[in-house]
Amino acid sequence: MQQALHALDAHNWRIDSWHDKPARQQASYPDQQALADTLSQLNQLPPLVTSWEINTLRQELALAQQGKRFILQGGDCSENFHECTSPVITNRLKVLLQMSLVLTHGLEMPVVRVGRFAGQYAKPRSSDIETRGDVSLPSYRGDLVNGPEFTPESRIPDPRRLLRGHARSALTMNFVRALVDGGFADLHHPEYWNLNWLEHSPLAKEFQRIADDIEQSIRFMETVTGKTAGTLRRTDFYTSHEALHLHYEQAMTRQVPRVDGWHNLSAHFPWIGMRTAELDGAHVEFFRGIRNPIAIKIGPGMSSDWLRGLLEVLDPGREAGRITLIHRMGAKHIAEHLPALIRTVKSTDHAVTWVCDPMHGNTESTAQGIKTRRFENIQSELEQAFDLHADCGSILGGVHLELTGEDVTECTGGARALSDTDLQRAYKSTVDPRLNYEQAIELAMLIVRKHQQIAAAN
Ligand code: PEP
Ligand code: CO
Repeated sequence: MQQALHALDAHNWRIDSWHDKPARQQASYPDQQALADTLSQLNQLPPLVTSWEINTLRQELALAQQGKRFILQGGDCSENFHECTSPVITNRLKVLLQMSLVLTHGLEMPVVRVGRFAGQYAKPRSSDIETRGDVSLPSYRGDLVNGPEFTPESRIPDPRRLLRGHARSALTMNFVRALVDGGFADLHHPEYWNLNWLEHSPLAKEFQRIADDIEQSIRFMETVTGKTAGTLRRTDFYTSHEALHLHYEQAMTRQVPRVDGWHNLSAHFPWIGMRTAELDGAHVEFFRGIRNPIAIKIGPGMSSDWLRGLLEVLDPGREAGRITLIHRMGAKHIAEHLPALIRTVKSTDHAVTWVCDPMHGNTESTAQGIKTRRFENIQSELEQAFDLHADCGSILGGVHLELTGEDVTECTGGARALSDTDLQRAYKSTVDPRLNYEQAIELAMLIVRKHQQIAAAN
């Protein structure tokens, strides 16, 4: 490993040094000239975020490390170009804002809101080829690369999609910024919540108490300050996506006046997926040279040595807020794997922010072959994560969720006890199953309940 680390010396980094490393999960474009032309256009287009916003986020993440902030990161598994619409964006923002209100009041700390949107258009796949009957075609890799329809035309990677992805991301960002700056934050207010699901929950009384407490403290604040709730605090929203498509990410990575280094200006907070986190791979090479705070997804296959290597390569400056580790172990495996990794980090002089993704380790298929996740497993992984961190003297700084503001039926369970047969009613995701509006708000309340239980026990 020493040799590998030596090869990754910071001075050898170039914006395109990732080309010298094996790059997994990349599209294979038949027309390389068209790709090159598109990338040079993309490189001239305005960025989606700014370096000072990125720096503010790094400070917020450093506070989450110390238990002074809670990170709520959420959105689709994969955004689609055709869902870049006003209602979808509005509903997604609404559910995230309402969850963050529940968390701010219930955990008694500010929430750092990070959308999995405005650029979450590229997906890793388990196979390069998808076969149906006797037809085999390139796999769908997200709208940034090709189309989901199972036809040869649609599955050919098309570089023009990179420009559309950038434009859709900018449209999304523009609308989100306008909504957040305007009166939209009123949706914070409990009278805009849809809590009809509450009566179906065995915890209805407890949830009602949480909702009443929030309502009361908002009224109190409004009376004392004379301002309406949404205007009390500037509601910052940050964006994140898996920085998977390295050509796209490179074109969006820039040097800005009077600031050292390179910033990836396609999102505030890019992450490395579990499938592309090899120490000597192209993604780690690319990420080590950018100044953004970055996240790494870690699953049951992550070893202590591998993790130590990643911290060394990606955080040579031991910078607060630089590294977030998003663990996604599965309800059945988290107790076995997480404590050793927490101890590994503690044995180094790196500080990391820990976030739990209770979605990706809990994906399963129904008897009918539909991909789903059970709410009870999501809840269980999250609750175990709180306990395991507390037992190890560590802090769980946030949660990473796949959710939507729409009334979909993709995950089973929750207060309305959705069953496998309900999944047919409104299953819309082209990739992973998401929590719907009600399940997302319920999960936020369960986080509050768990947090309050831990606080009461200490
Ligand atoms: C994802 O976040 O959609 C994803 C593919 O996650 P992971 O890298 O954790 O499997
Ligand atoms: Co996913």
